[in-house]
Amino acid sequence: MEVVILAGGKGSRLLPHTAEIPKPLVPIGDTPIVEILLRQLKKAGVTKVHMAVSHMANLIMNVVGDGNKFGLEIVCSTEEKPLSTAGPLKLIKHLPEHFVVANGDILSDIDIRALYNQHVAGDALLSIATYEREENIDYGVLETSAENVVTGFSEKPSYHFTVSMGIYVFSRAVLEFIPRGKPFGFDELVLELLQRGKKIASYPYDGYWQDIGRPDDYARAQADIERIKGLL
Ligand code: GDD
Ligand code: MG
Repeated sequence: MEVVILAGGKGSRLLPHTAEIPKPLVPIGDTPIVEILLRQLKKAGVTKVHMAVSHMANLIMNVVGDGNKFGLEIVCSTEEKPLSTAGPLKLIKHLPEHFVVANGDILSDIDIRALYNQHVAGDALLSIATYEREENIDYGVLETSAENVVTGFSEKPSYHFTVSMGIYVFSRAVLEFIPRGKPFGFDELVLELLQRGKKIASYPYDGYWQDIGRPDDYARAQADIERIKGLL
């Protein structure tokens, strides 16, 4: 099982933690996020990891090296200009028939082997791990018509969403739908595949999942430190 880790984002929403180090190197306890991820991947039986890097690439490459210290083969793929969240895959040579792609800022105890196996056994071109989220609105929410007439009212409602966890399995055929040499987002890729009638599978998950995007997410991850140590 090979994995691509997307690790080239600017991490602007996590300032000031990302002023001098890129987001994958921000520590949880005293371990950089990327190191937690790599140790988990090793435990899951992964052999080779491609790190797609761009912003502060050298710092990340120095920390992960050739992967030897994690018992993995790590190859870094550097973008001269950031290619967003699907574009970087086009630069990586010799990807296998199926491979995992994961954001570099996610902590989760999802069993990626099970996700991978579901994908390989099915006929979808892409599988997306999904999570159920409730968003509570702190206001009274109105429905209004185009004529500014109130047609509905709901006090502090909760909305339910199925969200993408930022962990996927790709079949290599998906690479044909990614343009070369220009920024192309995973969101654009999904819309392109749907428009062309290609099958995308979801993989619902309800265990631990935390995206380290904003300072409050980071604080939550720090508070979950014992749980995160349990992942290693
Ligand atoms: N190599 C490379 N190049 N990596 C990038 C680039 C780039 O240009 N831009 C972003 N990344 C990496 C980031 O480092 C991060 O690990 C991952 O791609 C996702 O980027 P974020 O900027 O963290 O995206 P997000 O958190 O707003 O949204 C993403 O994650 C959500 C789940 O946490 C999306 O994938 C959403 O659809 C998803 O729900
Ligand atoms: Mg993120």
